[in-house]
Amino acid sequence: MSDSPATNVVIAVDGPAASGKSSVSRRVANRLGYAFVSTGLMYRAFTWVVCEAGIDPESDPEGVVAVLEKTDIQPDRRGNEIFLRVNGEDPGDALTSDRINSRVSIVAKIPDVRQALVKQQRASAHASDIVMEGRDIGSVVFPDTPYKFYLDASEEVRAQRRAAQGLGDEIAERDRMDANRKVSPLKVAEGATVIDTSDLSLDEVVETLLSHLAKQGLIPNA
Ligand code: CDP
Repeated sequence: MSDSPATNVVIAVDGPAASGKSSVSRRVANRLGYAFVSTGLMYRAFTWVVCEAGIDPESDPEGVVAVLEKTDIQPDRRGNEIFLRVNGEDPGDALTSDRINSRVSIVAKIPDVRQALVKQQRASAHASDIVMEGRDIGSVVFPDTPYKFYLDASEEVRAQRRAAQGLGDEIAERDRMDANRKVSPLKVAEGATVIDTSDLSLDEVVETLLSHLAKQGLIPNA
């Protein structure tokens, strides 16, 4: 699989947990007819494999790397969304379980894991134009794309959004780990447009992104 830079358009959307990245990115992708990729779901899918193997990523990072070496990771395109199949399986709803929420940031800070998944992420831009969301898309995965956004929201608003989804999730703890890790920490990429979504509706954030892309000349003015 080639790891060369994409020739297609990549719109990178980064930000902390529950900042609205997935919902906004999915809508922008639908509006533009691009594919949508949630890289968080990729880290979650591999974390699921680690859990199923009975490995504790905190105490046994070498065990995680051993699992990685044995895991068959394949892209799985469904409609205009690209997911991962791990060992032929789609973990489905298990990806957003408490078990995964509490371990994913520990797994995601392991360099070998990031290297393997970044390769999958870059490959997904070979087949089509994409909107990709995550933590390091504009800074590491596609640093050369001119279309970069960083969505933020106050910690309080983000905690409310996650609770409204009915999910127990220590987002402050995940943000702390994601922002402080050595490899590819969560940060505003150079050249990214920062949007504070605390007081904006989903539609307003989508329109803000689209109007910015129109100003950049990627799409016609609405
Ligand atoms: O949806 P939410 O913002 O809660 O999280 P997510 O996007 O599903 O990402 C889950 C976790 O995966 C993050 O907390 C990070 O630890 C990790 N992740 C990452 O390290 N790099 C990415 N590009 C995307 C996610």
